[in-house]
Amino acid sequence: MDWKDIESYPNDFLWGASTSSFQIEGAATTDGKGLSVIDVMEKQPDITDFSIAADHYHHLEEDVALMADMGLKVYRFSISWTRIFPQGNGEVNQAGVDFYNRLIDALKKYQIEPLVTIYHFDYPQALVDQYGGWLSRQSITDYHRYATFLLKTFGDRVKYWLTINEQDHVIRFPSRLGIKECTYAEQLRLGYQANHHMCLATARVIQTFHELGMTGKIGPAVSYSWIHPYSANPMDVLASKDATIIKNNYLLDLHCKGKYNKVFWRYLEERHYLPKIEAGDMELLRENPPTMIGVNYYYSETVKAFPTSSEYPIGYHKETPLPTAEAGIFEVVNNEQLSATDWGWEIDPIGLRLTLRELYDRYELPLIITENGIGAYDKLEADDKIQDDYRIDYLQKHLQQLQLAITEGVDILGYCAWSFMDLVSGRNGMEKRYGFVYINRDDFDLKDLRRVKKQSFYWYQKVIRSNGKYIWRD
Ligand code: BG6
Repeated sequence: MDWKDIESYPNDFLWGASTSSFQIEGAATTDGKGLSVIDVMEKQPDITDFSIAADHYHHLEEDVALMADMGLKVYRFSISWTRIFPQGNGEVNQAGVDFYNRLIDALKKYQIEPLVTIYHFDYPQALVDQYGGWLSRQSITDYHRYATFLLKTFGDRVKYWLTINEQDHVIRFPSRLGIKECTYAEQLRLGYQANHHMCLATARVIQTFHELGMTGKIGPAVSYSWIHPYSANPMDVLASKDATIIKNNYLLDLHCKGKYNKVFWRYLEERHYLPKIEAGDMELLRENPPTMIGVNYYYSETVKAFPTSSEYPIGYHKETPLPTAEAGIFEVVNNEQLSATDWGWEIDPIGLRLTLRELYDRYELPLIITENGIGAYDKLEADDKIQDDYRIDYLQKHLQQLQLAITEGVDILGYCAWSFMDLVSGRNGMEKRYGFVYINRDDFDLKDLRRVKKQSFYWYQKVIRSNGKYIWRD
């Protein structure tokens, strides 16, 4: 496409950046906060826990001032459920409410739109202890109560809401679901039941959002990796189609169309993963679709067909948390056309554009990029410089493809890079950094937790100031 044909970013485009509570806040047991499944997770010997993180809890004003300096139009953050309800469903903890009031007010002071994730992995441990958390239908009522409290308390200032972050990841990581010691197959069976409950919980909150007369937008944040076929062999193309349903679209079909995709249902049935559905469930889903979709995109995947055999019968899968091989369906392989991050995530900006087009064609809802970024070993130089050109390159190429998707007609409300500041990576601790702002600490040395702007901070500042024009400069 020719430059002259590319549409500009809309004037009200929400330029932003994201974080999540447990990855930045620290203060894990301060001011009455209850324990989440993250706080009680078994410690990994070579990476930090989440108890201090970036200590944002004690740096709130300084961090928001940095956001304002950068020119952010929107800031996506999550609320820690156990700061608000330490037991998940008991008494309100006013100190937690005060903290988020301060945060939201500080953002509003600088005209930064808050984009609130209601729940991002840090589920209350007390609910797991009480009744097994998401595995029980009781979880729907408690999530709804918590979310309704947030809508009523912060809804006068918050227009944009994300219901649940990456529930497909929640169901696949035993610690995030609060499950201990069970087989991989049992984990998935339980996980798909939990998935059903999370979809119902989301639908109930969307229903309440409308009943309260709220005029903003609400939807889930889903993780989505575009899936290429390895070759033009129709078997590989079929594998990519099936993998797209089983890994990605099944979830949005539930949220947005209120139905279990047929291919997915068969997949669940053949493997004995079918969830229990009660009368009225599917109506609730159908009647309460989201009004926007949050998209977390980091990389694409490439798959080959994986025929069953006596060695690999139906039900065989590689025991990786996120599915990388399922007998009879697909196997993830390297894509020689793409380079990868230090953690092997294949960098594919066109994959983002393909994803946005697919989602908009399929669901016809406005999209917002809620996560996109590169984890890297950033180096703080002696003169307090961090030369993260690889991050600028990554973001620039993705933003170019995003603009092309807008030009092609996709309705995109905004873009939130992951992440505003360095945070504790979900699986790799502090050494895998994502932020525009460096946090001066390592996994096991807290140093001074000083905030330092990386080169990418200044670059993104220019991107925002130019409403995106700067992404076309070399
Ligand atoms: C998403 C999560 O899965 O990916 C974030 O919503 C996470 O919480 C991000 O940090 C990157 O993953 P990781 O494992 O590199 O931190």
